[in-house]
Amino acid sequence: MKQNYFSQNPVLIQAAKRAIERRLELEAKDPVLLAGRAGITPDPWQADLLRSDARQTMLMCSRQAGKSTVTSLLALHEALYTPDSLVLLLSPSLRQSQELFKKVKDSHSSLKDSVLPTASETSSLRMEFSNGSRIIALPGNEATIRGFSGVDLLIMDEASRIPDQLYQAVRPMIAVSGGRIVLLSTPFGKRGFFHAEWTEGGDNWKRVKITADQCPRIDKDWLENERRMIGDWWYLQEYFCEFVETEDSVFSFADIQAALDSEIKPLFGE
Ligand SMILES: Nc1ncnc2c1ncn2[C@@H]1O[C@H](COP(=O)(O)OP(=O)(O)O)[C@@H](O)[C@H]1O
Ligand SMILES: [Mg+2]
Repeated sequence: MKQNYFSQNPVLIQAAKRAIERRLELEAKDPVLLAGRAGITPDPWQADLLRSDARQTMLMCSRQAGKSTVTSLLALHEALYTPDSLVLLLSPSLRQSQELFKKVKDSHSSLKDSVLPTASETSSLRMEFSNGSRIIALPGNEATIRGFSGVDLLIMDEASRIPDQLYQAVRPMIAVSGGRIVLLSTPFGKRGFFHAEWTEGGDNWKRVKITADQCPRIDKDWLENERRMIGDWWYLQEYFCEFVETEDSVFSFADIQAALDSEIKPLFGE
C-alpha cells in the first residue's frame, strides 16, 4: 500500500528522476564518483588520473600499486559516458589482457546500475554497450590491432614488456582519431619504447611514478621480505620503479620472468 502510494506519486517520481539525472551529470564529469560506486576509493594519484584530461599518460608504478584497477575504471567511464566510443586494452599476453578485461567487467557488475547503458559480453575479451561503445581486450601482437580505427582510449598494460613494433603500429591510430593513450607498467631495463618515452619523450606526456612505499596497501614488513627473497635488482625495478640494468642481472630477471609466466617472452636474450 505504502509502496504503491510512493511509486504513483508524480511529484516523487519527478524528484527521483531529477536526482538520477543530476547523479549522471556529476558522474559524467567525475570518474571518481563512478569508482566510488564500484566500491573503490581511489588513492590520490588514482583520483588524479581519473580526473585528468591529458592525451598521453605514463604510469610507472610499483607492482600491486593499483594501476590496472584505476585504468579499468577509466576504460569503463569512457565506454559508459562517451557513446559510440572504442576502448582498446592491450597487454603483452592473452592472459594479461583477459585479466585487465576481467577487472573492467567486475567493476561494471559491481555498479548494479539500472540507468547507465547496459553491456553484453560478446566474448571473453569484448564488451558491447547499449550506447554503442565497445571495450575490447587484445593480446599484444600487431595482427590483432591493425584492423581497428577511431580508438578513443588506448590502454597498454605492462607496457615495458610490449614489443616496440606494436607501439609503432598503434601510434598513428591514436594520432588520427585524436584519442587518448595510457601506458602503465613497471620498468623493464633501459630499453624499448617505454623507457624511451619516459626519459626522452618530451613534454607531451603526463608522467606519474608511484613506488611501493607510496601505496597504502603494501605492507612494509612484507616489502622487506620481498627484498630478501628476490634480490635488489628485481626489487628496485618491480617496487621502486628503477630502470636498473646490468647484463648479469637482466639475464637472471629474464629467467625469473620465464619461470613465473611462460607466456611472457623476454624481449631480448633469446
Ligand atoms: N584504491 C584502491 N582501494 C582498494 N584496493 C585497491 C585500490 N587500488 C587497487 N586495489 C587493489 O590492490 C590490488 C592490486 O591492484 P592492481 O590494480 O592489480 O595493481 P597493479 O596493476 O598495479 O599491479 C588489487 O587487489 C586491487 O583490487
Ligand atoms: Mg596490473
